[in-house]
Amino acid sequence: DDYSPPSTDIITLTRHVLNDGFNLAKSSAASGDLTILLASLQTTCKFIESNVRKASLINLIGAAGNTNVQGEDQKKLDVLSNEIMINALRASGKAAVLVSEENDEAIFVGEKQSGSSFETNKGKYCVVFDPLDGSSNIDAGVNIGTIFGIYLVKDGSKGDLSDVLRPGKEMVAAGYCMYGSSANLVLTTGNGVNGYTLDNQIGEFILTHPNIRLPERGKIYSINEGNSAYYHEPVLKYLDSIKFPKEGSSKKPYSARYIGSMVADVHRTLLYGGIFGYPDDKKSKSGKLRMLYEAFPMSFLTEQAGGVATTGTQRILDIQPTEIHQRCPVFLGSKGDVEDLMSFYKQQ
Ligand code: AHG
Ligand code: MN
Ligand code: MN
Ligand code: MN
Repeated sequence: DDYSPPSTDIITLTRHVLNDGFNLAKSSAASGDLTILLASLQTTCKFIESNVRKASLINLIGAAGNTNVQGEDQKKLDVLSNEIMINALRASGKAAVLVSEENDEAIFVGEKQSGSSFETNKGKYCVVFDPLDGSSNIDAGVNIGTIFGIYLVKDGSKGDLSDVLRPGKEMVAAGYCMYGSSANLVLTTGNGVNGYTLDNQIGEFILTHPNIRLPERGKIYSINEGNSAYYHEPVLKYLDSIKFPKEGSSKKPYSARYIGSMVADVHRTLLYGGIFGYPDDKKSKSGKLRMLYEAFPMSFLTEQAGGVATTGTQRILDIQPTEIHQRCPVFLGSKGDVEDLMSFYKQQ
């Protein structure tokens, strides 16, 4: 008699974007276009997911043999995921400018592509993306993901570099899909954060995590502490404070969790709270994470979930980028925890 049947009134991502709770861009024309763009991104995530799942079986593991503009060795799945996204976003007819981690230059949609099998229409949106995040984890079967951020071209613009070299606070939507024990797509259109889980049998993302809110504080810190030798004073002092709480304080030492895929570390942080960081240090003067397609989308999601995202001294979403592959230091997570970290920078 305590039987509770599974829901038969499921909310798919498509249904949710079309009908419910979404405060899409004010003009209705724009909102229709954004819906189509999001549908296209949803499909790319399913396509990438299906390749990730069978990568070991179809020779998709390992290096592709090229280096990207950041000097990283590309994995086969980096290259494949990038092609999937570029093709789908071009085909959507809703994109004007694309910026990918794996392409040196921005792509301007509408320019004739040699070797392309279809004509592409130009749209009003710019999509910045990390087609596959966590490449170093691929071959070990550890969680990886796709990150994206979306801008609407400026009034009167036909889509140029200035439409993507903008502070993250001007994004109209951002999200990621994590390929983990399940595929989870997490999305904001500036009206809170929702999480969807892929039901592989029906091929739809289903709303499973409505209105994600970060706890005010967490008990986890997530940082590559192996870089400690290079860290600056405020980071070292903060880490010390959470590992060795002052005697007599009610605080317990924090737990360490670091996956090394930003998508997975941020996903856990959004759900459990705590702090994730990739600081600048004596070796990397701007840190490692890329502003446009890693720091901005994740900071937008964090703020929309009630958290804080900072370089340590500045709100990330306020930064004006000058180059598409620019890096910046990142700390994000629960408000209380990130504010504690910031207090060590202020003491300097
Ligand atoms: P990508 O695989 O897209 O190049 O990104 C890797 C990033 C990010 O996923 C992660 O947070 C970070 O690299 C991990 O870096 P370390 O191995 O230096 O900790
Ligand atoms: Mn990379
Ligand atoms: Mn990445
Ligand atoms: Mn990547």
